[in-house]
Amino acid sequence: MMPKHSKPLSLIAIVLTALLSVSGCGDDDGGDAQPSPDPFALPDAPPSGVYDGPLFALSHDYPRAQAAPPDPAPWREAIGFGHIDTGNARAYVDALKDYIADDMRELLFDYENWNAEAAGWYNQPWLGTIREPIHGTYVGSTFPAEMFPLSGLTTTMTTHVLVYYDAVAAGSLRSVWGDGALDPLPGLEAGGAQFPEGGFIVKPAFTTAGGADWPPIEGAYPWLIYAPPGDGTEGDPELQTVYLFQFDIIVKDTASAPSTGWVFATLVYDGSVEGDFWDQMIPLGAMWGNDPDVLSPQDCDYLVPGDCPPLFETWINQATPLYSRETLGWGGRLSGPNDGSVDIAAVVQTEDGLEQYDGRYAMSSCMSCHGVAEFEMESFLLPGPSTCTQDDCTPTFASCDSQGVCQEVDPGPGVSLVYYDWQSAEFSRWFQSRPGDEPQDEGTIALDYGMNYAFKALPQWLTQTGTDLTPNFVEEFNNYRGRQYESHAVGAARIPFE
Ligand code: HEC
Repeated sequence: MMPKHSKPLSLIAIVLTALLSVSGCGDDDGGDAQPSPDPFALPDAPPSGVYDGPLFALSHDYPRAQAAPPDPAPWREAIGFGHIDTGNARAYVDALKDYIADDMRELLFDYENWNAEAAGWYNQPWLGTIREPIHGTYVGSTFPAEMFPLSGLTTTMTTHVLVYYDAVAAGSLRSVWGDGALDPLPGLEAGGAQFPEGGFIVKPAFTTAGGADWPPIEGAYPWLIYAPPGDGTEGDPELQTVYLFQFDIIVKDTASAPSTGWVFATLVYDGSVEGDFWDQMIPLGAMWGNDPDVLSPQDCDYLVPGDCPPLFETWINQATPLYSRETLGWGGRLSGPNDGSVDIAAVVQTEDGLEQYDGRYAMSSCMSCHGVAEFEMESFLLPGPSTCTQDDCTPTFASCDSQGVCQEVDPGPGVSLVYYDWQSAEFSRWFQSRPGDEPQDEGTIALDYGMNYAFKALPQWLTQTGTDLTPNFVEEFNNYRGRQYESHAVGAARIPFE
């Protein structure tokens, strides 16, 4: 068993263990022999008395035979079996939401009765060291109040997320991991990361900000988690309440979305909707490509309909609470409040050097960020200069003085990320509409938009087994926007660059 919430030190211990352990001696538990790392290890349960309810069970018995999606698929039927477009996307997303409604009501709101394996939903291995024990969530991101100025967020908030694959999508997990999950390389090289058609992946996201901290979250469904407080990375775990505010659904559907093979959709909490908690999760939008031909001016206001050039591969539901649209992606491309597609303190690399950007810099989208899912990663998630070696990928950081003169600095608290200019050819590399078997960077293995592989499970496998390709992402960049926040108690975070 792995220690709960392993800190870097214990990770090092695990890596050393892996290096020292002789392969094939798994049965030898005598003497000084150390156990090999366990891909399916779970975090320790909270002490009884602190919490005695149901715990997360890792679902990893991936189906041996490839499961098939329903035929006809209701989401295909909803758009007349043609292509998804901005006119029919709502019907499509409603069909996705209906299709998984029973299972998700159980997972989210009836946890006592949730049994992932029986319901046919599966998880990635290797994430036991970062999950908390009650729901299996891990830290998504940390956002300062200034990220949501229009909807009244008053504290720094941290999000906690988890991912489930349906039985169809789990075909990829079996191809990559097999039974033992110890060596994904042959599966990856054989294209196992490509998801079967009709596969679903879902990702609920919870925020530490309740209604008292963020009015639009009033009444959102609470989950108890047992995780370190604040940004979730340091300190002893505590029982905390977090609130469901975003629910991602992605489906591999090349017939509906031929340019990328995927539809990315997300639901957001809207407390003004009548009905149960699932009914209150309403579509924010969908995207099926990055609209590579639309050059959206950085200063267009996507909250004002018609201000930005029209998009053809994103549909946004304007009848959603403002908080959920406040952080849409570049030019209004789809991105949710959990996704960090906007930077409030950006530095931009221009022909004249580094320049502080005055305003909010929208520079990503669901499919822009997911488009760099490749192995090994050669580009950072966000469009900016990064240095990638065999085992690491570091974005560029800068700091600017009061005169606005900026220079490159090492990562650290309060520094800014450097992005490409939105009008540059480099920036546009993050806004292509590619099929998922073409990587963003030539010579890498395309992971079919699968970021849970690229950013979580594969780096953890490398780290915990001591395999010599290790990206240091997990320890250094636990915040996937690449920004390091100062350690802080909730509410005391610095806004980088203030
Ligand atoms: C700035 C980067 C970024 C943006 C923008 C982003 N994601 Fe992700 N997403 C990630 C990362 C990193 C992971 C893997 C970590 C995890 O498991 O949470 C992930 C994981 C996921 C997963 C789990 C499946 C997988 O492996 O890819 C789903 C589903 C998902 N995101 C949907 C969405 C949707 C829908 C949007 C837009 C509404 C979105 N994401 C926007 C970075 C991003």
